[in-house]
Amino acid sequence: MDSTFVIAIDGPAGSGKSTLARKLAASLGWRFLDTGVLYRAMAVAASSRGLADAGEGELTALARSLDIRLSLERDLSRVSVDGLDVTGELRTQAISALASRMASMAGVRDSLRDLQRRVGAGGRLVTEGRDQGTAIFPEARLKFFLVASPEARAGRRLRELQTRGRDDTLEQVLAEMLARDRQDAGRRKDPLREAPDAVRVDSTDLDEDQVLALMLARAREVFGEVAMPAGGGSEPR
Ligand code: DC
Repeated sequence: MDSTFVIAIDGPAGSGKSTLARKLAASLGWRFLDTGVLYRAMAVAASSRGLADAGEGELTALARSLDIRLSLERDLSRVSVDGLDVTGELRTQAISALASRMASMAGVRDSLRDLQRRVGAGGRLVTEGRDQGTAIFPEARLKFFLVASPEARAGRRLRELQTRGRDDTLEQVLAEMLARDRQDAGRRKDPLREAPDAVRVDSTDLDEDQVLALMLARAREVFGEVAMPAGGGSEPR
């Protein structure tokens, strides 16, 4: 099994990548990897060491020194740093901003590349991030690039935050999202961009089930038997 048995999904924040990648993996009976978790785990480590405002040199040195480990569960990428499980600490606004800043640093990205490729080499993986189809798995046989209007993306993110009891406004969420988009797409090293052979899906006017159906149909076309769920498979949740 090699990384041609990888489905790479890229796109900006709020495009629905995570949910769809997770559901696609469950439908196929494949593993699921949320690569944003890796950058977020590094940000948690930096922040807990008092390095949230440090510069590139210090943060890159830190990234290189950390032992990051992943365990891929059914619908979660659990992550530990130097033996400490940080999965519960990944989703704050401060960690999002620091993760985005660290993700713009070439040395930080390099330090995570081999780990991602090792996971891919196990085959049957749906992976999502910003550079999966371009830099990490350029040979993946199926790539999706998910997009949606900024308003639709911010609306989805707002609903997600509200379910966690947050009371952010749409304007705040939109502004924060556009700032992260600029950082993710504007960086020199592996910026967010569409692979030339990616299937572009605009989910602005589609619901999740419609996008999932479209992705599943493509996966079955490309991978045939390998994308047929074993033993009836698990239904998406
Ligand atoms: O998808 P996310 O919001 O959890 O990602 C966190 C940050 O990491 C985000 O600013 C983009 C960055 N990232 C990246 O640069 N490359 C990836 N493959 C995944 C995430």
